Amino acid sequence: MSIFSCFFLQWGGEKASVGGMKMLVFGGSGRTGQVLVRVAQQEGWQVGAPTHAECDLADARAVSDRVLASDAELVVNAAAISGLEACLDDPLQAHLVNAVAPAAMALACRHTGAKFIHLSTDYVLDGRRAGKKNEAMKCKPVSVYGESKREGELQVLEALPEALIARVSWICGNPRKPAFVEQMLARALAGQALAAIADKESMPTDAEDIARAVLALSTGAEHGVVHVCAGGSPVSWHECAALALQMAVEAGYLPVVPQVAMQKRGDVSFFREERPRYTAMDNGKLLALGIPMPDAVETIRRVTLRYLEARSAAAPLT
Ligand SMILES: NC(=O)c1ccc[n+]([C@@H]2O[C@H](COP(=O)([O-])OP(=O)(O)OC[C@H]3O[C@@H](n4cnc5c(N)ncnc54)[C@H](OP(=O)(O)O)[C@@H]3O)[C@@H](O)[C@H]2O)c1
Repeated sequence: MSIFSCFFLQWGGEKASVGGMKMLVFGGSGRTGQVLVRVAQQEGWQVGAPTHAECDLADARAVSDRVLASDAELVVNAAAISGLEACLDDPLQAHLVNAVAPAAMALACRHTGAKFIHLSTDYVLDGRRAGKKNEAMKCKPVSVYGESKREGELQVLEALPEALIARVSWICGNPRKPAFVEQMLARALAGQALAAIADKESMPTDAEDIARAVLALSTGAEHGVVHVCAGGSPVSWHECAALALQMAVEAGYLPVVPQVAMQKRGDVSFFREERPRYTAMDNGKLLALGIPMPDAVETIRRVTLRYLEARSAAAPLT
């Protein structure tokens, strides 16, 4: 049995006999998936979360069979190949996992009657002009990852118009899966040199907020695309780092705010795929549905303190 099989409450994949609302989560071992499974269980959901080994998303038949065999009222896809260079290096796999698999889930949900929520990304947007983008704005991905995710959105909505696409951005807040904010804090605490990109901006979003928003959206009739992200002004990675480090000093975890060198996207040799510059999303539609989100600064504060507290409590982070 894998560590995730031990960690998550699962049912056998066939018809579950336990009472209460049932949810099937793909990608339950991921940064967002881990948090979603935990929050859903805390809210009383019975959660099934097949591991990668139990259901390979590159196999559309296996994906479809898994959904058809479940009696979940809600299916959430938090799985993806989300590394841009991984998608560039294997575009077929990216297409299978990020587009074909979600379409198979949507089609199967049409048969079972389950609500389907699929996580997508701000990287489907045209990031050429500054300013926040709402759901009606043009999509024009500039990477294989973005293209595969956009294809997934379109195929899901074609297969199941009642499906909900939750576009998220710059996910952080899961100390077990450190993201940019947590990585900067870890480097600072280790006394390492810091550098962060300043010519790109978006909305950092707490995985806890995504999980709660997904659960709230699951009970409503909303469908189509909804931007599920923090509010307020967009920030660059450099601004994210500066805010997190300042907050770490104020909370007594660092003696002084360390210098963070400013980088441009073109400086990072690891980047072989383009990162779009302006993809910050407007979360007005989500707010109008009565689902609150903190702003970007508050998100960074919460994520920073959660990570630092988890570290100092010596919590098992992996
Ligand atoms: N991270 C971000 O900042 C960000 C930003 C915008 C949008 N998003 C979107 O948000 C969603 C969640 O992202 P995340 O960062 O939380 O994901 P993540 O941490 O990268 O986790 C991805 C999940 O997908 C699973 N997976 C990948 N390939 C698979 C396959 N062939 N078969 C079965 N499972 C497979 C992984 O399982 P294994 O690890 O076992 O392979 C893992 O559980 C994705 O849709 C992503 O595109 C993420």
